[in-house]
Amino acid sequence: MSDTLATSVPQTQKAWLAIRRGEPSYALRLDNNVPVSSKLENGEVLVKVQAAALNPVDHKKLKLLPTVFSGRPHVISHDFAGIVLASSDSKIKQGDEVFGTILPNFQNRTHQGALSQFARAPTKTVALRPMNITPTQAAGLAVVCLTAYNALFDVAKLEPGQSLFVSGGSTAVGIAAIQLAKAIGCKVTATASGKNEELVKSLGTDVFIDYTKGPVHETLEHNAPTPKFHVILEAAGILALPLWTHSEAYLTPGGTFVSVGPQPDGAGEIPILIRYIWEAFIRPTWLGGVKRKWRLCHPQEKQEQLEHIAKLISEGKFKSVVDSVYDFDDALKAFEHVMTKRARGKVIVKVDPSAD
Ligand SMILES: NC(=O)c1ccc[n+]([C@@H]2O[C@H](COP(=O)([O-])OP(=O)(O)OC[C@H]3O[C@@H](n4cnc5c(N)ncnc54)[C@H](OP(=O)(O)O)[C@@H]3O)[C@@H](O)[C@H]2O)c1
Repeated sequence: MSDTLATSVPQTQKAWLAIRRGEPSYALRLDNNVPVSSKLENGEVLVKVQAAALNPVDHKKLKLLPTVFSGRPHVISHDFAGIVLASSDSKIKQGDEVFGTILPNFQNRTHQGALSQFARAPTKTVALRPMNITPTQAAGLAVVCLTAYNALFDVAKLEPGQSLFVSGGSTAVGIAAIQLAKAIGCKVTATASGKNEELVKSLGTDVFIDYTKGPVHETLEHNAPTPKFHVILEAAGILALPLWTHSEAYLTPGGTFVSVGPQPDGAGEIPILIRYIWEAFIRPTWLGGVKRKWRLCHPQEKQEQLEHIAKLISEGKFKSVVDSVYDFDDALKAFEHVMTKRARGKVIVKVDPSAD
């Protein structure tokens, strides 16, 4: 790091720390004395964070994972936008305005996170911010875009002109997936509750299904698409077991059902989770199992995918959808909002009050 820069980076900072297991209001602490990790390994940047974004995984891990498996205490959250203060990578340099993420493996190892004034991050998950969006618009892009990218292209091999079904079109992952699929000329069918129809259609969705009006698998069986879907993305993280077990009716042979991870909504759904695991992972087709591929998706450390999103944004082919923006000190309110599962786009926390 240059001498000028070294004097402009304080030794300690303000950050939201995950300190124990539990609800965010119990498990997080706003700490004014968190050391700034300014010593970079190869391929890393030190970023002055302008805005950070929350993901449901933040509060899920807080509630579920015992401290011993989670690298606590660590700064909470993954996604950010900011300005590079130092870089050990030839591609990204000091002064660059970037967006990116600190994925769990890096977070567990380094205790870094996005809800802090300064964050160290690997450049594999950082890209230049397109100049036609602001830091608060860019902060929430990385995890959901990398997840949607992995689901559609790494896992399901979606091709131009094919047909995609998205369960949860108004989730942030769904919003990214719809736009990525439309950018390569796919036909998209997506669900959400009726109040989100306009949003989901504004992303280019061709067919909208209001999931509150009846079981989605029945709607699809009664109006089977021709041709059948090539890919189904379950982007709401729900235990949509019938959507999978009936999928031969509307997913083409050789097609892939990708899930962000079916999660029980409370202890009452544990028996459904057990059945889901049996139906999706274990039951062979010769014992009546579904004759389609079922796969999970995860964000990968692929800088080129973030660069592609940035290019689509700068060309006006992909938009960032922000639900709400909270002040740094109000991060707990932002967590409460994410936990309602009703956000329509990303929930952002302004780390630098002057960020737009
Ligand atoms: N595998 C991974 O690595 C990975 C990565 C990212 C996210 N995820 C998971 O993916 C899921 C979505 O994450 P996110 O950040 O995109 O969520 P989010 O934006 O916070 O999701 C909120 C949206 O969910 C919709 N929704 C709620 N229940 C629904 C249902 N039954 N059917 C359809 N839509 C429903 C709501 O729309 P309505 O109000 O219209 O219902 C709302 O717009 C979460 O479970 C998250 O943990 C997994």
